[in-house]
Amino acid sequence: MGEYAQRRLIRKIDLERFLSTVQFNPTPIVNLEQYTTSERIASIMLYIAAYTNNDIMGKCILDLGCGTGRLSLGAAFLGAESVLGVDIDRAVLKVAVANAKNVALASSVDWVNGDVSVVNGCFDTVLQNPPFGVQSRNADRAFLAKALTSGRMVYSLHNHPEMDKRLIGMLKSSGTGLFEVQPSIFLKRFIEQHGGVIRAVYAMLMSIPKMFDFHTKIRHDFVIDLYVIESSIIK
Ligand SMILES: C[S@@+](CC[C@H](N)C(=O)[O-])C[C@H]1O[C@@H](n2cnc3c(N)ncnc32)[C@H](O)[C@@H]1O
Repeated sequence: MGEYAQRRLIRKIDLERFLSTVQFNPTPIVNLEQYTTSERIASIMLYIAAYTNNDIMGKCILDLGCGTGRLSLGAAFLGAESVLGVDIDRAVLKVAVANAKNVALASSVDWVNGDVSVVNGCFDTVLQNPPFGVQSRNADRAFLAKALTSGRMVYSLHNHPEMDKRLIGMLKSSGTGLFEVQPSIFLKRFIEQHGGVIRAVYAMLMSIPKMFDFHTKIRHDFVIDLYVIESSIIK
């Protein structure tokens, strides 16, 4: 473990600070929906996994579509036993490797270049921020299906089903930045058909900077849902 790895409770603000040192992808590919998870969303996700559900410390973690490694490195920072990050894009993995060196966690994470379908193994916990399917319809489904046959617990980010101004207002004024909401009926059906039981869904406000030419605003704010799922396939 590198010098940054934690074995005790750390403050969310310190986790967020650590995650902000994990660099963005400088050359994002639109078709792969290479948005980096904001440090705020990544820290909430990792905090729930680590400290509400005890699914990080001492556990074997799989990060599907790891990008520049924010979730992988966050899990290693919180004291995961092992972390495997998988991404289809070789260039983004080079950034992940450099990020790992930069935060002294190079020996704590293994990186694999390939499609999610190449993964074969059992993990305690899967973390993922899959492509939402904006560019390629239902791209998140292959990630969910693979996650449910790979990990006992799955933490997966998905687009909130509809633009809900009331929810956005509540999230903006909430201290915690999250609200428990109902799952989308389509995702619920898919998850149950693939052996998953949804334990909770948390809505959060995500903000991404203008990255591609078709983005018309400097920042795009939208609601993202964190699904906490238990797999009945992996015990
Ligand atoms: C929304 S980004 C999330 C990146 C990173 N996990 C993060 O949280 O910042 C989705 C990632 O999935 C990767 N990806 C897309 N399709 C993939 C596939 N079929 N197999 C593996 N990775 C894929 C993309 O290259 C991209 O890095």
